[in-house]
Amino acid sequence: MEFPLLYHAFFLLGICFLVLLVSCNPVIKVNGEFSSSPFPRSFLFGTASSSYQYEGAFLTDGKGLNNWDNFTHKPGNIMDGSNGDVAVDHYHRYLQDLDLMDYLGVNSYRFSISWARVLPKGRFGDVNWAGIDHYNKLINALLLKGIQPFVTLTHYDIPQELADRYGPWLSREVQEDFEYYADICFKYFGDRVKYWATFNEPNVVVIRGYQSGIYPPSRCSSLFGNCTNGDSEKEPFIAAHNIILSHAAAVKIYRTKYQKEQEGNIGIVMNTLWLEPMSNSLGDKLAAERAQAFYLNWFLDPIIFGKYPKEMYEILGSSLPSLSKYDLEKLKNGLDFIGINYYSSFYVKDCIFSVCEPGPGNSKTEGSILRTAKRNGVLIGEPTDVDWLFVYPQGMSEIVTYIKERYNNIPMYITENGFGERDNPHTSIEDLLNDTRRVRYMSNHLDSLAIAVRNGADVRGYFAWSLLDNFEWNDGYTIRFGLHHVDYATLKRTKRLSANWYKQYIAKHMAGKRSSASA
Ligand code: NOJ
Repeated sequence: MEFPLLYHAFFLLGICFLVLLVSCNPVIKVNGEFSSSPFPRSFLFGTASSSYQYEGAFLTDGKGLNNWDNFTHKPGNIMDGSNGDVAVDHYHRYLQDLDLMDYLGVNSYRFSISWARVLPKGRFGDVNWAGIDHYNKLINALLLKGIQPFVTLTHYDIPQELADRYGPWLSREVQEDFEYYADICFKYFGDRVKYWATFNEPNVVVIRGYQSGIYPPSRCSSLFGNCTNGDSEKEPFIAAHNIILSHAAAVKIYRTKYQKEQEGNIGIVMNTLWLEPMSNSLGDKLAAERAQAFYLNWFLDPIIFGKYPKEMYEILGSSLPSLSKYDLEKLKNGLDFIGINYYSSFYVKDCIFSVCEPGPGNSKTEGSILRTAKRNGVLIGEPTDVDWLFVYPQGMSEIVTYIKERYNNIPMYITENGFGERDNPHTSIEDLLNDTRRVRYMSNHLDSLAIAVRNGADVRGYFAWSLLDNFEWNDGYTIRFGLHHVDYATLKRTKRLSANWYKQYIAKHMAGKRSSASA
Protein backbone atom coordinates (compact mmCIF):
# COMPACT_ATOMS: atom_id res chain seq x y z
CA MET A 1 0.00 0.00 0.00
CA GLU A 2 2.80 2.40 0.96
CA PHE A 3 4.68 2.02 -2.31
CA PRO A 4 2.01 3.47 -4.66
CA LEU A 5 1.57 6.45 -2.29
CA LEU A 6 5.29 7.20 -2.40
CA TYR A 7 5.20 6.72 -6.13
CA HIS A 8 2.40 9.31 -6.46
CA ALA A 9 4.26 11.76 -4.26
CA PHE A 10 7.39 11.45 -6.43
CA PHE A 11 5.29 11.79 -9.55
CA LEU A 12 3.69 15.02 -8.26
CA LEU A 13 7.08 16.38 -7.19
CA GLY A 14 8.41 15.62 -10.66
CA ILE A 15 5.54 17.55 -12.29
CA CYS A 16 6.15 20.56 -9.98
CA PHE A 17 9.85 20.48 -10.86
CA LEU A 18 9.08 20.45 -14.59
CA VAL A 19 6.61 23.36 -14.25
CA LEU A 20 9.24 25.32 -12.34
CA LEU A 21 11.90 24.54 -14.93
CA VAL A 22 9.73 25.66 -17.82
CA SER A 23 8.74 28.91 -16.12
CA CYS A 24 12.37 29.79 -15.21
CA ASN A 25 14.09 28.87 -18.45
CA PRO A 26 14.18 31.82 -20.86
CA VAL A 27 12.72 29.81 -23.71
CA ILE A 28 11.31 32.05 -26.40
CA LYS A 29 8.74 31.11 -28.99
CA VAL A 30 9.80 32.34 -32.40
CA ASN A 31 7.77 31.56 -35.51
CA GLY A 32 6.29 28.56 -33.84
CA GLU A 33 9.69 27.17 -32.81
CA PHE A 34 11.19 27.20 -29.35
CA SER A 35 14.71 28.46 -28.96
CA SER A 36 16.78 29.17 -25.91
CA SER A 37 19.10 32.14 -26.33
CA PRO A 38 22.38 32.30 -24.42
CA PHE A 39 22.16 36.10 -24.43
CA PRO A 40 20.43 38.03 -21.65
CA ARG A 41 17.15 39.85 -22.25
CA SER A 42 18.75 43.28 -22.25
CA PHE A 43 21.43 42.22 -24.78
CA LEU A 44 22.19 44.82 -27.46
CA PHE A 45 22.30 43.64 -31.06
CA GLY A 46 23.49 46.31 -33.42
CA THR A 47 25.67 47.44 -36.25
CA ALA A 48 28.68 49.75 -35.94
CA SER A 49 30.03 52.67 -37.96
CA SER A 50 32.28 55.70 -37.60
CA SER A 51 31.93 59.31 -38.66
CA TYR A 52 34.93 59.53 -41.00
CA GLN A 53 34.17 56.23 -42.70
CA TYR A 54 30.47 56.99 -43.19
CA GLU A 55 29.43 60.61 -43.05
CA GLY A 56 31.08 62.39 -45.94
CA ALA A 57 29.90 66.04 -45.96
CA PHE A 58 33.45 66.88 -44.98
CA LEU A 59 32.96 70.64 -45.22
CA THR A 60 29.21 70.86 -44.92
CA ASP A 61 27.34 73.02 -42.38
CA GLY A 62 30.44 74.40 -40.72
CA LYS A 63 32.43 71.21 -40.08
CA GLY A 64 36.16 71.83 -39.61
CA LEU A 65 38.95 69.77 -41.13
CA ASN A 66 40.28 66.84 -39.15
CA ASN A 67 43.47 64.76 -39.24
CA TRP A 68 41.97 62.18 -41.63
CA ASP A 69 40.73 64.85 -44.08
CA ASN A 70 44.24 66.17 -44.11
CA PHE A 71 45.94 62.76 -44.37
CA THR A 72 43.75 61.39 -47.16
CA HIS A 73 44.18 64.54 -49.22
CA LYS A 74 47.91 63.89 -49.47
CA PRO A 75 48.76 61.65 -52.42
CA GLY A 76 50.11 58.19 -51.66
CA ASN A 77 48.47 57.62 -48.29
CA ILE A 78 45.39 55.69 -49.45
CA MET A 79 45.57 52.66 -51.73
CA ASP A 80 43.01 53.84 -54.30
CA GLY A 81 43.76 57.53 -53.83
CA SER A 82 40.32 58.02 -52.30
CA ASN A 83 39.14 59.87 -49.19
CA GLY A 84 36.11 60.32 -46.93
CA ASP A 85 34.90 63.58 -48.50
CA VAL A 86 31.68 61.86 -49.54
CA ALA A 87 32.16 58.39 -48.03
CA VAL A 88 28.69 56.78 -48.02
CA ASP A 89 26.99 60.14 -47.42
CA HIS A 90 25.49 58.98 -44.14
CA TYR A 91 25.31 62.64 -43.07
CA HIS A 92 22.53 63.19 -45.58
CA ARG A 93 21.18 59.64 -45.83
CA TYR A 94 20.97 58.65 -42.17
CA LEU A 95 17.18 58.31 -42.28
CA GLN A 96 17.38 55.86 -45.14
CA ASP A 97 20.12 53.98 -43.25
CA LEU A 98 17.95 53.90 -40.18
CA ASP A 99 15.30 52.13 -42.21
CA LEU A 100 17.88 49.48 -43.06
CA MET A 101 18.59 49.06 -39.34
CA ASP A 102 14.90 48.92 -38.60
CA TYR A 103 14.52 46.09 -41.11
CA LEU A 104 17.36 44.19 -39.41
CA GLY A 105 15.56 44.54 -36.10
CA VAL A 106 18.62 45.81 -34.20
CA ASN A 107 18.04 47.50 -30.84
CA SER A 108 21.26 49.56 -30.88
CA TYR A 109 23.45 51.51 -33.30
CA ARG A 110 27.10 52.29 -32.63
CA PHE A 111 28.32 55.45 -34.34
CA SER A 112 30.91 58.10 -33.60
CA ILE A 113 30.64 61.86 -33.37
CA SER A 114 32.94 63.85 -35.60
CA TRP A 115 34.87 66.06 -33.16
CA ALA A 116 35.54 68.66 -35.88
CA ARG A 117 31.85 68.79 -36.79
CA VAL A 118 31.00 69.81 -33.23
CA LEU A 119 34.13 71.86 -32.53
CA PRO A 120 35.73 72.82 -35.86
CA LYS A 121 38.78 74.24 -34.08
CA GLY A 122 38.63 72.24 -30.87
CA ARG A 123 38.40 74.43 -27.79
CA PHE A 124 40.09 77.25 -29.73
CA GLY A 125 36.91 78.15 -31.58
CA ASP A 126 33.14 78.13 -31.28
CA VAL A 127 30.69 75.27 -31.08
CA ASN A 128 29.23 74.45 -34.48
CA TRP A 129 25.50 74.37 -33.70
CA ALA A 130 24.68 72.75 -37.02
CA GLY A 131 26.81 69.80 -35.92
CA ILE A 132 24.99 69.55 -32.59
CA ASP A 133 21.71 69.76 -34.47
CA HIS A 134 22.73 66.93 -36.79
CA TYR A 135 23.57 64.49 -33.99
CA ASN A 136 20.43 65.49 -32.09
CA LYS A 137 18.36 64.61 -35.13
CA LEU A 138 20.17 61.29 -35.56
CA ILE A 139 19.76 60.36 -31.87
CA ASN A 140 16.09 61.31 -31.84
CA ALA A 141 15.37 59.39 -35.01
CA LEU A 142 17.07 56.30 -33.56
CA LEU A 143 15.09 56.49 -30.33
CA LEU A 144 11.85 56.88 -32.24
CA LYS A 145 12.55 53.48 -33.75
CA GLY A 146 13.52 51.95 -30.41
CA ILE A 147 17.22 51.85 -31.30
CA GLN A 148 19.66 52.82 -28.54
CA PRO A 149 22.53 55.11 -29.57
CA PHE A 150 25.95 53.72 -28.55
CA VAL A 151 28.25 56.66 -29.12
CA THR A 152 32.03 56.86 -29.54
CA LEU A 153 33.56 60.28 -28.95
CA THR A 154 36.50 59.78 -31.26
CA HIS A 155 37.02 57.05 -33.81
CA TYR A 156 40.59 57.91 -34.97
CA ASP A 157 39.65 61.55 -35.77
CA ILE A 158 40.68 64.83 -34.14
CA PRO A 159 40.34 68.42 -35.41
CA GLN A 160 43.32 69.40 -37.54
CA GLU A 161 43.74 72.48 -35.37
CA LEU A 162 44.65 70.22 -32.43
CA ALA A 163 46.73 67.90 -34.59
CA ASP A 164 48.80 70.94 -35.63
CA ARG A 165 49.13 72.28 -32.10
CA TYR A 166 49.93 69.04 -30.29
CA GLY A 167 50.94 66.43 -32.84
CA PRO A 168 48.06 65.53 -31.75
CA TRP A 169 48.53 63.11 -28.80
CA LEU A 170 52.10 64.04 -27.96
CA SER A 171 51.23 66.88 -25.61
CA ARG A 172 49.68 66.47 -22.16
CA GLU A 173 47.59 69.55 -22.94
CA VAL A 174 45.37 67.53 -25.26
CA GLN A 175 43.66 66.12 -22.14
CA GLU A 176 41.99 69.48 -21.61
CA ASP A 177 40.79 69.55 -25.18
CA PHE A 178 39.30 66.10 -24.97
CA GLU A 179 37.66 66.88 -21.65
CA TYR A 180 36.18 70.08 -23.10
CA TYR A 181 34.80 68.19 -26.11
CA ALA A 182 33.44 65.31 -24.01
CA ASP A 183 31.72 67.76 -21.68
CA ILE A 184 29.90 69.34 -24.63
CA CYS A 185 28.76 65.95 -25.90
CA PHE A 186 27.48 64.83 -22.49
CA LYS A 187 25.74 68.17 -22.03
CA TYR A 188 23.88 68.20 -25.33
CA PHE A 189 23.33 64.48 -26.00
CA GLY A 190 23.70 62.74 -22.65
CA ASP A 191 20.03 62.99 -21.67
CA ARG A 192 19.36 60.40 -24.40
CA VAL A 193 22.67 58.54 -24.85
CA LYS A 194 23.16 55.77 -22.29
CA TYR A 195 26.35 54.26 -23.74
CA TRP A 196 29.50 56.32 -24.23
CA ALA A 197 32.85 55.09 -25.47
CA THR A 198 35.65 57.65 -25.16
CA PHE A 199 38.08 56.23 -27.74
CA ASN A 200 37.95 53.67 -30.51
CA GLU A 201 41.03 51.45 -30.63
CA PRO A 202 43.60 53.79 -29.07
CA ASN A 203 46.12 50.94 -29.41
CA VAL A 204 45.72 51.09 -33.19
CA VAL A 205 45.87 54.91 -33.15
CA VAL A 206 49.26 54.93 -31.44
CA ILE A 207 50.80 51.89 -33.14
CA ARG A 208 49.84 52.99 -36.65
CA GLY A 209 50.24 56.72 -35.97
CA TYR A 210 53.56 56.75 -34.08
CA GLN A 211 55.22 53.35 -34.60
CA SER A 212 54.68 52.25 -38.20
CA GLY A 213 53.44 55.69 -39.25
CA ILE A 214 50.82 54.43 -41.69
CA TYR A 215 48.04 56.50 -40.04
CA PRO A 216 48.19 60.19 -39.25
CA PRO A 217 50.28 61.87 -37.92
CA SER A 218 52.63 59.55 -39.95
CA ARG A 219 55.43 59.54 -37.40
CA CYS A 220 58.01 56.75 -37.07
CA SER A 221 61.72 55.93 -37.09
CA SER A 222 63.31 54.67 -40.28
CA LEU A 223 63.60 51.07 -39.08
CA PHE A 224 59.83 50.94 -38.53
CA GLY A 225 58.46 52.72 -41.57
CA ASN A 226 58.70 55.49 -44.06
CA CYS A 227 58.25 58.78 -42.20
CA THR A 228 60.05 62.06 -42.14
CA ASN A 229 59.86 62.48 -38.36
CA GLY A 230 59.16 60.53 -35.23
CA ASP A 231 60.56 58.00 -32.79
CA SER A 232 58.88 54.60 -32.92
CA GLU A 233 60.51 53.52 -29.68
CA LYS A 234 59.35 56.47 -27.59
CA GLU A 235 56.41 58.34 -29.04
CA PRO A 236 53.83 55.51 -28.99
CA PHE A 237 54.17 55.42 -25.20
CA ILE A 238 53.83 59.18 -24.83
CA ALA A 239 50.78 59.27 -27.11
CA ALA A 240 49.21 56.31 -25.30
CA HIS A 241 49.80 57.97 -21.95
CA ASN A 242 48.06 61.16 -23.06
CA ILE A 243 45.16 59.18 -24.48
CA ILE A 244 44.77 57.23 -21.23
CA LEU A 245 44.75 60.49 -19.27
CA SER A 246 42.32 62.07 -21.73
CA HIS A 247 40.03 59.10 -21.26
CA ALA A 248 40.30 59.53 -17.50
CA ALA A 249 39.52 63.24 -17.77
CA ALA A 250 36.35 62.54 -19.77
CA VAL A 251 35.26 59.82 -17.35
CA LYS A 252 35.80 62.15 -14.41
CA ILE A 253 33.63 64.86 -15.97
CA TYR A 254 30.93 62.29 -16.75
CA ARG A 255 30.99 60.84 -13.26
CA THR A 256 31.02 64.15 -11.44
CA LYS A 257 28.67 66.21 -13.59
CA TYR A 258 26.37 63.92 -15.50
CA GLN A 259 26.22 60.24 -14.68
CA LYS A 260 23.93 60.39 -11.68
CA GLU A 261 21.27 62.28 -13.52
CA GLN A 262 21.75 60.80 -16.99
CA GLU A 263 22.18 57.21 -15.76
CA GLY A 264 24.46 56.13 -18.58
CA ASN A 265 27.67 54.10 -18.82
CA ILE A 266 31.09 55.05 -20.05
CA GLY A 267 33.88 52.84 -21.36
CA ILE A 268 36.59 52.49 -23.99
CA VAL A 269 36.80 50.36 -27.13
CA MET A 270 39.98 48.33 -27.71
CA ASN A 271 41.21 46.45 -30.72
CA THR A 272 41.83 42.89 -29.57
CA LEU A 273 43.62 39.87 -30.98
CA TRP A 274 43.60 36.40 -29.53
CA LEU A 275 47.31 35.56 -29.23
CA GLU A 276 48.05 31.86 -29.07
CA PRO A 277 51.52 30.72 -27.90
CA MET A 278 53.47 29.21 -30.81
CA SER A 279 54.38 26.18 -28.67
CA ASN A 280 53.91 24.76 -25.20
CA SER A 281 57.28 26.07 -24.11
CA LEU A 282 57.34 28.43 -21.15
CA GLY A 283 59.12 30.99 -23.33
CA ASP A 284 56.30 31.11 -25.87
CA LYS A 285 53.61 31.16 -23.18
CA LEU A 286 55.27 34.14 -21.51
CA ALA A 287 55.70 35.75 -24.91
CA ALA A 288 51.95 35.48 -25.56
CA GLU A 289 51.29 37.19 -22.21
CA ARG A 290 53.83 39.86 -23.06
CA ALA A 291 52.21 40.39 -26.43
CA GLN A 292 48.82 41.01 -24.75
CA ALA A 293 50.52 43.35 -22.29
CA PHE A 294 52.03 45.43 -25.10
CA TYR A 295 48.81 45.46 -27.10
CA LEU A 296 45.74 45.43 -24.87
CA ASN A 297 46.68 45.61 -21.20
CA TRP A 298 48.87 48.61 -22.04
CA PHE A 299 45.66 50.68 -21.95
CA LEU A 300 43.30 48.64 -19.79
CA ASP A 301 45.66 48.06 -16.85
CA PRO A 302 46.31 51.75 -16.14
CA ILE A 303 42.63 52.57 -16.57
CA ILE A 304 41.44 49.74 -14.33
CA PHE A 305 44.37 49.04 -11.98
CA GLY A 306 46.15 52.41 -12.08
CA LYS A 307 49.45 51.00 -13.37
CA TYR A 308 51.01 49.68 -16.57
CA PRO A 309 51.41 45.90 -16.95
CA LYS A 310 54.45 44.50 -15.17
CA GLU A 311 55.84 43.13 -18.45
CA MET A 312 56.02 46.70 -19.76
CA TYR A 313 57.76 48.02 -16.63
CA GLU A 314 60.25 45.14 -16.81
CA ILE A 315 61.19 45.86 -20.41
CA LEU A 316 60.77 49.62 -20.72
CA GLY A 317 61.71 50.70 -17.21
CA SER A 318 61.88 54.42 -16.79
CA SER A 319 61.21 55.14 -20.45
CA LEU A 320 57.56 54.30 -19.70
CA PRO A 321 55.83 57.56 -18.70
CA SER A 322 55.10 57.58 -15.00
CA LEU A 323 51.68 58.12 -13.52
CA SER A 324 51.62 60.92 -10.97
CA LYS A 325 49.50 60.85 -7.82
CA TYR A 326 47.13 63.23 -9.56
CA ASP A 327 46.92 60.91 -12.59
CA LEU A 328 46.17 57.93 -10.39
CA GLU A 329 43.43 59.83 -8.65
CA LYS A 330 41.88 60.58 -12.05
CA LEU A 331 42.21 56.99 -13.18
CA LYS A 332 40.37 55.44 -10.25
CA ASN A 333 37.37 53.46 -11.40
CA GLY A 334 38.25 54.34 -14.94
CA LEU A 335 35.39 52.69 -16.82
CA ASP A 336 32.01 50.99 -16.63
CA PHE A 337 32.54 48.63 -19.56
CA ILE A 338 35.16 47.34 -21.97
CA GLY A 339 34.39 47.49 -25.70
CA ILE A 340 35.99 44.64 -27.62
CA ASN A 341 36.67 44.80 -31.35
CA TYR A 342 37.59 41.25 -32.32
CA TYR A 343 38.33 40.05 -35.85
CA SER A 344 41.41 37.82 -35.94
CA SER A 345 44.03 35.77 -34.05
CA PHE A 346 47.77 35.11 -34.34
CA TYR A 347 50.52 32.88 -32.98
CA VAL A 348 53.21 34.41 -30.81
CA LYS A 349 56.81 33.27 -30.52
CA ASP A 350 59.35 34.33 -27.92
CA CYS A 351 62.26 36.43 -29.19
CA ILE A 352 64.11 36.97 -25.92
CA PHE A 353 65.46 33.46 -25.44
CA SER A 354 65.15 32.26 -29.01
CA VAL A 355 66.20 33.80 -32.29
CA CYS A 356 63.45 35.29 -34.46
CA GLU A 357 63.48 36.38 -38.05
CA PRO A 358 62.54 40.07 -38.46
CA GLY A 359 58.80 40.65 -38.21
CA PRO A 360 55.96 42.38 -36.41
CA GLY A 361 56.49 42.69 -32.67
CA ASN A 362 60.07 41.68 -32.30
CA SER A 363 61.71 44.94 -31.31
CA LYS A 364 62.33 45.41 -27.61
CA THR A 365 59.75 48.19 -27.37
CA GLU A 366 57.11 45.86 -28.81
CA GLY A 367 57.86 43.19 -26.21
CA SER A 368 60.39 41.06 -28.15
CA ILE A 369 57.85 38.69 -29.60
CA LEU A 370 57.07 37.59 -33.14
CA ARG A 371 53.44 37.70 -34.20
CA THR A 372 52.65 35.44 -37.11
CA ALA A 373 49.65 33.73 -38.65
CA LYS A 374 51.52 30.46 -39.39
CA ARG A 375 52.68 27.55 -37.25
CA ASN A 376 54.69 24.80 -38.94
CA GLY A 377 53.56 26.18 -42.27
CA VAL A 378 49.85 26.00 -41.38
CA LEU A 379 47.71 29.14 -41.05
CA ILE A 380 45.82 29.73 -37.78
CA GLY A 381 42.61 30.19 -39.74
CA GLU A 382 41.20 30.58 -43.21
CA PRO A 383 42.86 33.57 -44.91
CA THR A 384 40.69 36.36 -46.31
CA ASP A 385 41.19 39.23 -48.74
CA VAL A 386 42.21 41.37 -45.76
CA ASP A 387 45.87 40.78 -44.99
CA TRP A 388 45.44 40.86 -41.18
CA LEU A 389 42.20 38.88 -41.02
CA PHE A 390 42.36 35.12 -40.46
CA VAL A 391 39.15 33.38 -39.53
CA TYR A 392 39.52 31.99 -36.02
CA PRO A 393 36.13 32.00 -34.28
CA GLN A 394 37.48 30.27 -31.13
CA GLY A 395 39.49 33.45 -30.60
CA MET A 396 36.24 35.25 -29.75
CA SER A 397 35.51 33.15 -26.67
CA GLU A 398 39.23 33.03 -25.80
CA ILE A 399 39.68 36.81 -25.77
CA VAL A 400 36.39 37.42 -23.95
CA THR A 401 37.34 34.87 -21.30
CA TYR A 402 40.84 36.33 -20.99
CA ILE A 403 39.42 39.84 -20.42
CA LYS A 404 36.76 38.49 -18.07
CA GLU A 405 39.39 36.84 -15.91
CA ARG A 406 41.96 39.61 -15.94
CA TYR A 407 39.49 42.41 -15.27
CA ASN A 408 37.11 40.73 -12.88
CA ASN A 409 34.26 40.32 -15.35
CA ILE A 410 33.64 44.03 -15.90
CA PRO A 411 30.70 44.31 -18.36
CA MET A 412 31.84 43.82 -21.95
CA TYR A 413 30.37 44.68 -25.34
CA ILE A 414 31.57 43.23 -28.63
CA THR A 415 31.70 46.64 -30.26
CA GLU A 416 32.92 45.26 -33.63
CA ASN A 417 33.21 41.96 -35.43
CA GLY A 418 33.01 41.48 -39.17
CA PHE A 419 34.33 40.10 -42.43
CA GLY A 420 35.98 42.04 -45.25
CA GLU A 421 36.18 41.19 -48.94
CA ARG A 422 38.21 42.84 -51.67
CA ASP A 423 36.22 44.80 -54.17
CA ASN A 424 36.46 43.13 -57.55
CA PRO A 425 35.00 45.06 -60.49
CA HIS A 426 34.59 41.80 -62.42
CA THR A 427 32.41 40.09 -59.82
CA SER A 428 28.74 39.91 -60.76
CA ILE A 429 26.28 41.72 -58.51
CA GLU A 430 24.72 38.35 -57.56
CA ASP A 431 28.07 37.15 -56.23
CA LEU A 432 28.66 40.44 -54.47
CA LEU A 433 25.38 40.04 -52.63
CA ASN A 434 25.68 36.35 -51.92
CA ASP A 435 28.21 36.75 -49.08
CA THR A 436 28.09 33.24 -47.66
CA ARG A 437 31.60 33.56 -46.17
CA ARG A 438 30.49 36.59 -44.13
CA VAL A 439 27.42 34.70 -42.90
CA ARG A 440 29.57 31.74 -41.85
CA TYR A 441 32.04 34.09 -40.16
CA MET A 442 29.38 35.90 -38.12
CA SER A 443 27.49 32.75 -37.24
CA ASN A 444 30.62 30.96 -36.00
CA HIS A 445 31.81 33.99 -34.04
CA LEU A 446 28.43 34.40 -32.37
CA ASP A 447 28.45 30.68 -31.47
CA SER A 448 31.86 31.15 -29.94
CA LEU A 449 30.68 34.23 -28.04
CA ALA A 450 27.74 32.20 -26.74
CA ILE A 451 30.18 29.69 -25.22
CA ALA A 452 31.92 32.45 -23.24
CA VAL A 453 28.57 33.87 -22.15
CA ARG A 454 27.32 30.46 -21.01
CA ASN A 455 30.52 30.18 -18.98
CA GLY A 456 29.66 33.37 -17.15
CA ALA A 457 31.24 36.19 -19.18
CA ASP A 458 29.24 39.38 -18.67
CA VAL A 459 28.90 40.31 -22.34
CA ARG A 460 26.03 42.70 -22.96
CA GLY A 461 26.04 43.37 -26.67
CA TYR A 462 27.29 42.53 -30.16
CA PHE A 463 27.75 45.01 -33.01
CA ALA A 464 28.40 43.81 -36.54
CA TRP A 465 30.97 45.78 -38.52
CA SER A 466 29.36 47.08 -40.56
CA LEU A 467 25.89 48.15 -41.69
CA LEU A 468 27.28 49.33 -45.06
CA ASP A 469 30.42 49.03 -47.13
CA ASN A 470 32.48 52.10 -46.30
CA PHE A 471 35.85 53.86 -46.37
CA GLU A 472 38.36 51.32 -45.01
CA TRP A 473 41.22 53.65 -43.98
CA ASN A 474 44.47 52.94 -45.90
CA ASP A 475 42.55 50.52 -48.15
CA GLY A 476 40.09 53.21 -49.22
CA TYR A 477 37.05 51.65 -50.90
CA THR A 478 38.87 48.49 -52.01
CA ILE A 479 37.73 46.41 -49.02
CA ARG A 480 34.04 45.88 -48.27
CA PHE A 481 32.75 45.04 -44.78
CA GLY A 482 29.04 45.78 -45.25
CA LEU A 483 25.91 43.78 -44.57
CA HIS A 484 24.74 46.05 -47.40
CA HIS A 485 26.59 46.57 -50.65
CA VAL A 486 27.15 50.20 -51.59
CA ASP A 487 27.49 51.19 -55.24
CA TYR A 488 30.00 54.01 -54.90
CA ALA A 489 28.92 55.63 -58.17
CA THR A 490 25.29 56.05 -57.08
CA LEU A 491 25.58 55.39 -53.31
CA LYS A 492 22.72 52.92 -53.66
CA ARG A 493 22.54 50.44 -50.77
CA THR A 494 21.57 46.82 -51.50
CA LYS A 495 20.98 44.10 -48.94
CA ARG A 496 23.40 41.22 -48.89
CA LEU A 497 22.56 37.70 -47.78
CA SER A 498 24.26 38.53 -44.47
CA ALA A 499 21.72 41.29 -43.77
CA ASN A 500 18.87 38.81 -44.04
CA TRP A 501 20.78 36.25 -42.03
CA TYR A 502 21.50 38.78 -39.24
CA LYS A 503 17.84 39.80 -39.23
CA GLN A 504 16.79 36.21 -38.65
CA TYR A 505 19.48 35.68 -36.03
CA ILE A 506 18.33 38.74 -34.11
CA ALA A 507 14.69 37.76 -34.36
CA LYS A 508 15.51 34.34 -32.96
CA HIS A 509 17.63 35.66 -30.10
CA MET A 510 15.80 38.83 -29.25
CA ALA A 511 12.12 38.01 -29.70
CA GLY A 512 10.06 40.67 -27.98
CA LYS A 513 13.05 42.47 -26.52
CA ARG A 514 13.24 45.58 -28.66
CA SER A 515 10.48 47.59 -27.04
CA SER A 516 11.71 46.82 -23.53
CA ALA A 517 15.27 47.78 -24.52
CA SER A 518 14.09 51.11 -25.80
CA ALA A 519 11.77 51.85 -22.91
C1 NOJ B 1 38.24 48.38 -36.60
C2 NOJ B 1 38.01 49.86 -36.79
O1 NOJ B 1 37.45 50.39 -35.62
C3 NOJ B 1 37.14 50.17 -37.99
O2 NOJ B 1 37.19 51.54 -38.21
C4 NOJ B 1 37.61 49.37 -39.19
O3 NOJ B 1 36.94 49.72 -40.35
C5 NOJ B 1 37.44 47.90 -38.88
N1 NOJ B 1 38.30 47.58 -37.78
C6 NOJ B 1 37.81 46.99 -40.04
O4 NOJ B 1 39.15 47.14 -40.32
